[in-house]
Formats: sequence, C-alpha cells, structure tokens
Amino acid sequence: LNNGLAQTPQMGWNSWNFFACNINETVIKETADALISTGLADLGYVYLNIDDCWSNITRNSEGQLVPDPKSFPSGIKSLADYVHAKGLKLGIYSDAGAFTCEVRPGSLFHETDDAESFASWGVDYLKYDNCFNLGIKPEKRYPPMRDALNATGRTIFYSLCEWGEDDPALWAGRVGNSWRTTGDINDSWASMTTIADLNDKWAAYAGPGGWNDPDMLEVGNGGMTYQEYRAHFSIWALMKAPLLVGCDVRNMTAETYEILTNREIIAVNQDSLGVQGRKVNVTGTDGCLQVWAGPLSGHRLVVAIWNRCSKGAIITALWETLGLQSGTSVAIRDLWQHIYVTGSAVSSFSARVDAHDCLVYTFTPQTLSQSAI
Ligand code: DGJ
Repeated sequence: LNNGLAQTPQMGWNSWNFFACNINETVIKETADALISTGLADLGYVYLNIDDCWSNITRNSEGQLVPDPKSFPSGIKSLADYVHAKGLKLGIYSDAGAFTCEVRPGSLFHETDDAESFASWGVDYLKYDNCFNLGIKPEKRYPPMRDALNATGRTIFYSLCEWGEDDPALWAGRVGNSWRTTGDINDSWASMTTIADLNDKWAAYAGPGGWNDPDMLEVGNGGMTYQEYRAHFSIWALMKAPLLVGCDVRNMTAETYEILTNREIIAVNQDSLGVQGRKVNVTGTDGCLQVWAGPLSGHRLVVAIWNRCSKGAIITALWETLGLQSGTSVAIRDLWQHIYVTGSAVSSFSARVDAHDCLVYTFTPQTLSQSAI
C-alpha cells in the first residue's frame, strides 16, 4: 500500500501468541517498559500491538467501539500516550466481519466510525481479522477500511489478516502493508515448517510497501527447541516476514533473547533491497535438506542451509542454485557465529547442520559477476 509505511517489514510485538485473551493495560504497559529495558526497541521492535479481546462486548450508545472497562479502564488513548512517550507505536485489532474471532464487535460496515476512533486515540497500526465475514469476499471487505484509515489523515499501518483467502498476494498490494498468507501459526515445528513452505510460494509479490505475512513469531513460547526457534527466526527474516515477537518479553530466557536480538539476522530482514528470499534447492529424504537464499543490497546474498531431517547432515549450496557464476569467489559470513568463514569458496559451500537447525550466511562476491537470483 502506497502510504509511505512498510518500506521494510514491520517489527514489534503482539499480544496474541502468548496472552490470547488474557490482556489488560498493565500487561501492555509492562511490555512497553520491557521493550525498552531489554533493548528490543532499539533494534527496531517498535510496534506494540494489542490483538483480540481489548474491546467491550458491545458498542456504546453512539455506536462507537469502546475498550473493555475492566481490563482497559484508562482507555486506549492513555495507553497510546504511554507508549508514544517511550518512542514506541501502538497497534490495535479489529475484524472485517460482524464480530472478532473472540466475539467482540467487528468493523464491517462501521469502517468510518472505527477508523476515526483509532485515529483519535493515536493508534499507529491496525491488524484486521477475518472472522464472521458473512461470506463476503475479502477483496470487497478489506478496501473500505483502507479508505477509512486514509480519510482520517493519520498514517496508520494496515495489516490484513484474512488467512490467505483468495490469494491476497495477487491483490492486496494495493490494499494493505502486509497480508497473511496462511492460517494461524502454533508453537510447533510442524506448524512453523508448513507455514514457511506456504508463504514461500508468494515470494514474487512482496516488496517495499507490502509484505507477505506468515504470521507472528513463536520464539520463546516453549514448544520448539533452540535450534528450531533459530530456524524459525532465520527463515522469517530471510522471507522478509514481519518480525512480531509473540512471547512474554518481560520474562525471556537467555536463548530467546539471543535469537530475537541477533542484529545480523535482523539486518537481513530489514535490508533496503526488500526482496523476499526463497527455497532454492532441496535434497535428502522428502527434500528435508534445504537451501534458502535471496539477494541483498550491495550485490550480496543471504544463504540459509536448513536441515529439516531428523539427523545431522552436511548441506551444500551450489553456486548454480544461487544464481552465482561458477568461479565467483565470495566472502562468507556466518550470521549466528558472527565470524567470517575461512577459505574462499568458488563453486559451492558446504557445512554440517544439526537436525532442525538452520545456519545463515551472507555471501559477498569478490568480483561482480553474479546475476540476480
Ligand atoms: C485469528 C488471527 O489469525 C490470529 O492471529 C488472532 O488475531 C486471532 N484471530 C484472535 O482472535
């Protein structure tokens, strides 16, 4: 969407994956404090997004949305003031249907009123869900909220959450700043890998202004191993996915913190070229030994070797699968170990990868003979 936002994928936090409906203004304020004190905000995680369940069960007598008086007694405006004072941005949630998934009022046919409420509260981001949609096509239901947000005069990030219905990559570039390509993620290896593959299919349609959204991060929620979370974060970054942290940032383990704060992986996601990396080669049983790659600014490439098999293995990235001319010498940097790999590779690169782990490198050609991927 051409509203000046999303020149790189959005980064921040969202309440749903960890808290679901157990949210209140204290949790949101403490999360704002934690985004600052942990340094996550300085790394770019600036959107603090409230998901479903913030709203009261009914609209007020004027037909406006109002926050649940028990969990958000001070109102959304006061929360926005609190997060803005810390340099963060506030996101809110509604639904392009009669109700939200948790049966709070939806915004379908109330787009103008609700966009005006969001803007008057100082909201910076809207996630717009797809429940109770009355069987109306998303291509019809999502543009009215884009227009209503635009008409408020406040610049508001517009995140479509229509679960990949009607192939949004094909039409949502004119409607939103990101669009979900799949159903909900859950905190498991099976869900994460399935979603990565589904999102990969739409790589060609992502770019500055509008990104494919394979759903929020589960890193730190406990259902995957360190290696699996590292793979999750690596592949989401390479796919130019929104990096929306979904754990309780007030209580992160050292491993969770290490993953989410890896500056070199974040830099891949936020690279100015804005091209979604993709799966470029598979070998092994059922294709479980994988190479994912994409171009970066400065004629560099990001290359991930991802072992989705159940045993450790050596994975080889061949220049021909990366779009590099054979004979091109590249400098290779390991973005998890933060070191340059020694020796100069000229036709392939191989490394041993533990089961379910993902190693990520930048390749910098020493001569500029490479063609684009
Ligand atoms: C479905 C969405 O896909 C989720 O991300 C979350 O927003 C829930 N709805 C909330 O009800």
